[in-house]
Amino acid sequence: MSIVVTGATGKLGQLVIQALLKRTSASNIVAIIRNADKAAQLAALGIEVRLANYDDIESLYTALVGAEKLLLISSSEVGKRAVQHFNVIEAARQADVKHFVYTSLLHADRSPLALAEEHWLTEQALFKSGLTYTILRNGWYTENYTSGLKSALSQNVIIGATDEGQISSASRQDYAEAAAIVLTTFAHENKVYELAGDKAYTLTELACEASRQTGQNIVYFNMTEHDYREKLINMGTEPAVANLLSNSDAGAASGALFDDSGCLRQLLGRDTTPLSDCVRQGLL
Ligand SMILES: NC(=O)c1ccc[n+]([C@@H]2O[C@H](COP(=O)([O-])OP(=O)(O)OC[C@H]3O[C@@H](n4cnc5c(N)ncnc54)[C@H](OP(=O)(O)O)[C@@H]3O)[C@@H](O)[C@H]2O)c1
Repeated sequence: MSIVVTGATGKLGQLVIQALLKRTSASNIVAIIRNADKAAQLAALGIEVRLANYDDIESLYTALVGAEKLLLISSSEVGKRAVQHFNVIEAARQADVKHFVYTSLLHADRSPLALAEEHWLTEQALFKSGLTYTILRNGWYTENYTSGLKSALSQNVIIGATDEGQISSASRQDYAEAAAIVLTTFAHENKVYELAGDKAYTLTELACEASRQTGQNIVYFNMTEHDYREKLINMGTEPAVANLLSNSDAGAASGALFDDSGCLRQLLGRDTTPLSDCVRQGLL
């Protein structure tokens, strides 16, 4: 059996590899990476490393030959992703991959988030490809918020445009374990999973939890989508990224990051990681 994982050098990909190693031997795992300089750590785990770039369909085909299962971790190159993912789907078709697993976005078929468009295009291409698929519609990573907590501490404020929107995020670790479970167990063929954390929270509640853990009075300051975008740009964020972040926050305000399907918990067979644990981690 060979399980091939793309984006294996990324933050999610590394956790998927660790989770896979707990469920199968290294000789069953192949990591696809684009930068040979990053191969050493994976190779040291006994994992075969193959080089491929989402922009280069030939490299993808070569890397996928013999793959039984493939996890395509969505590309981080927003705006180029749909074409890149189409390349992976076509290469997988040509290489006769038996099962194609894709990390999409929560409610990709109806999400108002600008980020959803490329995911939904990818899903549709996969549905049409004839490949056996599983779609992991991952919700927000809790780390999207908790990784910025230490800098928020210096100002005692978390800023955003989510208003009182409920966010059902989960940790990368939770999503990684779910992916590893899907890749190593059966009955996931041609299924779409909406994956999100058990307990939704608002950014006001996140600020309360950070206050509780630090003893500081940290508040959440809500802005309009426009003002948040301008603020991010003033703080040095690239305009395109500021657009996506403020658009995503506006989507969260309207409930786009909320989900109570319990699907992630069912796949994991345990509760998802509580917000308090993620905050603790973010404050280390
Ligand atoms: N749900 C959420 O909240 C959320 C948040 C952020 C991102 N995401 C999505 O989830 C994905 C995984 O998240 P992450 O935190 O692991 O992101 P990440 O750390 O940025 O990892 C992205 C991975 O994709 C690889 N990659 C990028 N472009 C590539 C290309 N052209 N060809 C081959 N490989 C390429 C990167 O390789 P290098 O190591 O060489 O750069 C890296 O391994 C992201 O790519 C993004 O689509 C979701």
